[in-house]
Amino acid sequence: MPLIELKDLSVRYGEIEALRGISLSVEAGEVVTLLGANGAGKSTTLRAISGLTKPASGDILFEGRSLAGLGPEQIVRLGIAHVPEGRRVFPGLTSRENIMLGASNRSGVSKSDIAREADAMFDLFSDIRPFADALGWTLSGGQQQMVAVARGLMAKPKLLLLDEPSLGLAPVIVSKVFDIIKEIRRMGTTVLLVEQNARMGLSVADRGYVLETGKLVVSGNPSELWNNEDVRAAYLGGHARAS
Ligand SMILES: Nc1ncnc2c1ncn2[C@@H]1O[C@H](COP(=O)(O)OP(=O)(O)O)[C@@H](O)[C@H]1O
Ligand SMILES: [Mg+2]
Repeated sequence: MPLIELKDLSVRYGEIEALRGISLSVEAGEVVTLLGANGAGKSTTLRAISGLTKPASGDILFEGRSLAGLGPEQIVRLGIAHVPEGRRVFPGLTSRENIMLGASNRSGVSKSDIAREADAMFDLFSDIRPFADALGWTLSGGQQQMVAVARGLMAKPKLLLLDEPSLGLAPVIVSKVFDIIKEIRRMGTTVLLVEQNARMGLSVADRGYVLETGKLVVSGNPSELWNNEDVRAAYLGGHARAS
């Protein structure tokens, strides 16, 4: 049984059909990357999984159980954490406080344990350790992204949804964010990653899917996607090279 399975899922925003019958699955332990141009429906897919957007039709099964009718809080408690597009770090809270908020789905854990776990996050995200007590608004984009991912991990999710973690970051910071994703994978957390940056997105993936205007057009392992000339020309940037 896959950890998560989307079955013929459609989502509408009024007249706009953002997702038109997509089916995909992620196995436990995998990193799966969802690629596609701006507006393809990548964020909508993640929002539907985490209960922020209600599907028009189709179903989402998590560990074999339908998520239909569940709200975002219930879905987080089942073990799905969503790091949304655009970071959303609370500006008036410190990095540590922002990270600790990620554990709010977990009952029966003491505040001191949560503080200890938040502190341990600064081993994985060592670049932000010096900024543990800095307020959110003072952090750079890359630092905010690391805080946002650390906050997602504090939920101890079975499935981590990452929406464009590289967006707007300098290349050297993008590499660091992707090193962290590799480390998250090594720790055994299953990840569904949304990316426009196909090269980076596939570099950490076991498999990938390509979305085009609300439909899945191709899937495969990273080398299959890279070596498919049509796919590369149409969806991955014509002159990109796997390296
Ligand atoms: N809240 C919304 N209201 C209306 N249309 C939306 C909304 N969010 C997204 N859309 C539309 O749905 C489509 C898919 O958007 P989105 O999932 O954000 O794509 P992506 O993340 O791949 O850039 C786009 O046409 C977008 O304009
Ligand atoms: Mg998006």
